[in-house]
Amino acid sequence: MKKWYIANFKMSKEVESEQSIVNYAEKFIPLVEDVEDNVVICAPYIHLSEAVAQFIDTDVLVGAENCAMWEAGAYTGEISAAMLDKAGVKVVILGHSERRNYFGEDNTIVNKKLTLALKYGLIPVVCLSFETEDAFKETLKDQLDSVLKDVSADENVVIAFEPTFAIGTGKALGKEEVKQFTKQIKDQLKDKGYDFPVLYGGSVKPDNAKDFIVEAGADGLLVGGASLDPEKFAEICTCAKD
Ligand code: PGA
Repeated sequence: MKKWYIANFKMSKEVESEQSIVNYAEKFIPLVEDVEDNVVICAPYIHLSEAVAQFIDTDVLVGAENCAMWEAGAYTGEISAAMLDKAGVKVVILGHSERRNYFGEDNTIVNKKLTLALKYGLIPVVCLSFETEDAFKETLKDQLDSVLKDVSADENVVIAFEPTFAIGTGKALGKEEVKQFTKQIKDQLKDKGYDFPVLYGGSVKPDNAKDFIVEAGADGLLVGGASLDPEKFAEICTCAKD
């Protein structure tokens, strides 16, 4: 199975201008030319068209960081899954813990977004988040039940788990914990008949990426801060080589 390396630029200062996306692509593309895994750049809405234009002749996929929970209509300020599809976007991050914490998104909302993303042919990266390890064990089954409600096993869905204490803090989980959590999620998915890839996210850096992929068995990585530097992110995308 191809691994997934997903950059999440967020509303970072480094990507305020359109030119920053152009500069990023120029540096990044030659560094990942030989990568056979799935490499995804998730950019702020306003830069998606530019990102699609920059990566058009490459294998790098462009993703959004969110989409609306409604299909179309009078929802001022929202961006629909259909709009993303028409803009050439292929992937969408859904239910990131920052969306859950700051914008009140719950699993029911994430499931609505997921259904629309699939309807419009986008690959959803569904984030599971938890505050503590105990909370993870307690909430995992419910989170999966509700976010994956009515999703059939042949759909193209990616799952990412991110403990909130590891996001943007430099306090990544240890590889043993990532191994354990990955296995638990995979087992639960299997019980439901799914075989979706399971990614880890939270303070992934070039120096810990390989452990998560090679030793902990994660199917990929969701990367915030370190993805803003094209060289660092390219190192992460090539971490499992040889
Ligand atoms: P981080 O963010 O890599 O900066 O911890 C991860 C994420 O929020 O997806």
